[in-house]
Amino acid sequence: MRPVPVICRAAVFGLLACAGIGLWPAAAGAQTWPVRPITLVVPFAAGGPTDVVARALSVPLGKALGQTIVVENKLGAGGTVAATTVARAAPDGYTFLIHHNGMATAPALYRKLPFNPLTDFEYVSQVVDVPMTLVARKDLPARDLPELLAYLKANRDKVNLAHAGLGAVSHLCGMVFRQAVGVDLTTVPYQGTGPAMLALLGGQVDLLCDQTTQTTPQIKSGAVRFYGVTTAQRIKALPDAPTLAEQGLKGFEVMVWHGIYAPKSTPREATEKFNTALRTALKDPAFATRMAELGAEQVPDAKLTPDGLRNWLKQEIDRWGPVIKSAGVYAD
Ligand code: MLT
Repeated sequence: MRPVPVICRAAVFGLLACAGIGLWPAAAGAQTWPVRPITLVVPFAAGGPTDVVARALSVPLGKALGQTIVVENKLGAGGTVAATTVARAAPDGYTFLIHHNGMATAPALYRKLPFNPLTDFEYVSQVVDVPMTLVARKDLPARDLPELLAYLKANRDKVNLAHAGLGAVSHLCGMVFRQAVGVDLTTVPYQGTGPAMLALLGGQVDLLCDQTTQTTPQIKSGAVRFYGVTTAQRIKALPDAPTLAEQGLKGFEVMVWHGIYAPKSTPREATEKFNTALRTALKDPAFATRMAELGAEQVPDAKLTPDGLRNWLKQEIDRWGPVIKSAGVYAD
């Protein structure tokens, strides 16, 4: 490697610089990753549940890495626009993606998916698990789940369900709900459940199945009707809330998991350091408290590894592929 030409101006560079020491390009290499801000791409609208987790995480994560984490919302096609963008981004260690179950459902939902979730990425770690809740606009006449089921049967084809596109968990949860109750619902897509929630609060749509990271404050303040949680067990953040399963929708279970990905061939130094910083960030008291208040659950250490994420992703692809195919839901 050739030395960088140095014009020796002692007042500016000091004695060592005048001697040429520390001015080789290798000196820049001596600064290890990360030397500049890191972009964390979020596939859904700002203010929604994925964004809430990403932005809360960006603070302790940035602290642990000694760099700013820039959260960038890249919207469209239920998360596939963001995943495609990151799959095609430069593998330089400065672009990462946070995504959820949509990474596993997209291969079955999209006939022409422009990326392969199992081969186009480096895997960093899982993040947190988030239960979902079934909510409705405040003035929907049905006050509880039995009333909702009766209302749906009496108003076939008149009730609509907001969601965040094919590949969104709000869509997946809505599909599972429709199948469980045997009633068709008109669906209304948004680019995230942030805007879908605003439409629900404004009374423009009827139903939404969404993550507790967004719905908990709305449920607690009574701004929405609330019919139950989608987990097998009741959750700490909403201890009095029944599960949908215990109210008769047997086996109804949808839990949202999150993973962090980087473009294929991102240097291992970057993914490993990101993983270490993420584990530190997840234990940050302010982050952990906020997540617990919003119903998010910590994941076991075994899932906080690249293999933990990739193996889980593979299992989820195998789990949802046949369910989606049998439901006959596709996008081109
Ligand atoms: C969001 O962040 O808007 C949601 O995660 C979208 C979804 O329902 O998947």
